Amino acid sequence: MKLDIESKGIDFHQLIENSINSVLIVGKKGEILYCNKACLDLFHLNTPKEIMTKDIWFFLHSSFHDNSKNRLKRVFLKREKLERIEVKMKRSNSELIDVEVITAPFYSENHVFAQVSMLDITDRKATEKLLKDREKLASVGQIAAGIAHEVKNPLTAVKGFLHLIKESKSHPYLDIMEDELTKALNTLENLLQVSKPDLHDEPLIPIDLCKELTSILALFMERLYTIDVSLDLRDSEKKIVGKKNLFQRALFNLMKNAVEAIEEKGLISIEHFYKDEYVHIRISDSGVGIPNEKLKMLGTPFFSTKSNGTGLGLTQVFTTIHEHHGNISIQSEVGKGTTFHVQIPVKKDE
Ligand SMILES: Nc1ncnc2c1ncn2[C@@H]1O[C@H](COP(=O)(O)OP(=O)(O)O)[C@@H](O)[C@H]1O
Ligand SMILES: [Mg+2]
Repeated sequence: MKLDIESKGIDFHQLIENSINSVLIVGKKGEILYCNKACLDLFHLNTPKEIMTKDIWFFLHSSFHDNSKNRLKRVFLKREKLERIEVKMKRSNSELIDVEVITAPFYSENHVFAQVSMLDITDRKATEKLLKDREKLASVGQIAAGIAHEVKNPLTAVKGFLHLIKESKSHPYLDIMEDELTKALNTLENLLQVSKPDLHDEPLIPIDLCKELTSILALFMERLYTIDVSLDLRDSEKKIVGKKNLFQRALFNLMKNAVEAIEEKGLISIEHFYKDEYVHIRISDSGVGIPNEKLKMLGTPFFSTKSNGTGLGLTQVFTTIHEHHGNISIQSEVGKGTTFHVQIPVKKDE
């Protein structure tokens, strides 16, 4: 159907005002002259007044100011329509969002302005980052697994011969050598299991994660004299389908980190519940916390801040959760504690 715009008298102002794109009209110095409803929503504002009293620099992250000033010059002086860019903007509550921006001149009554069209791409960026992180983890894991495999065989041979030598004569050094070799082989075995979770092909079975959480907690009994535990395990009938051994080890690794994060006394809370077709597990500790710059390192093989750490625990956790199409998010504050939030999809009954 052809829409006869002229005779129907379409109100173009309303079209822009209610457009699904966020639109701003900006003056030479970045002053905001107009903003539509979608734009108010983007910045979490209620009335146009709240935005008109500010300029574009208020909403733009300072690292993009110089480039954006040059872009505005190109619009006003050269009347150029500019290429699309991605910037970080600030909502009224200071929350940062990723925004894709297109800017072009807009002419009205012999004046020129800049029209800025914006699209919130925060979710898209987060997904891209997640995929990139997974790829990075997978490729580091593959290299590590390759090396582990190559080194494991000769070391196993050395250990075998050492054993034979020990049978014919004894020497205190031989015991130390054997112990050290066993440690090295254990590390390699751990690494192989972490980077190739399918190494021991496990069947997929229904798992009651509440039950697993309770039995794993019992393994830490000794430390639990000084650490309080708060358990809130609900919806235990909601079972996930997956590889049980992998989950047992992942939950063990998370709990071990929580226990190790607490220096003396503290609290660990463990929650299990079902929401929106996912089983959620939250393991929180009141321990040392993780500084912001280290958060992104978590899950990288061998990243450890502990003198006797392997840095493989979280790698195993991340690979297990990703293999089961789940998500993990981490919140932490130095000196206050850390929460690991795991979500695993539960298949609906057919
Ligand atoms: N609950 C936690 N609280 C504080 N830091 C943590 C926590 N969990 C993990 N970390 C940090 O992440 C690093 C890597 O953890 P992990 O992969 O389990 O290796 P490891 O425990 O052997 O160091 C730890 O060394 C620690 O710095
Ligand atoms: Mg650990």
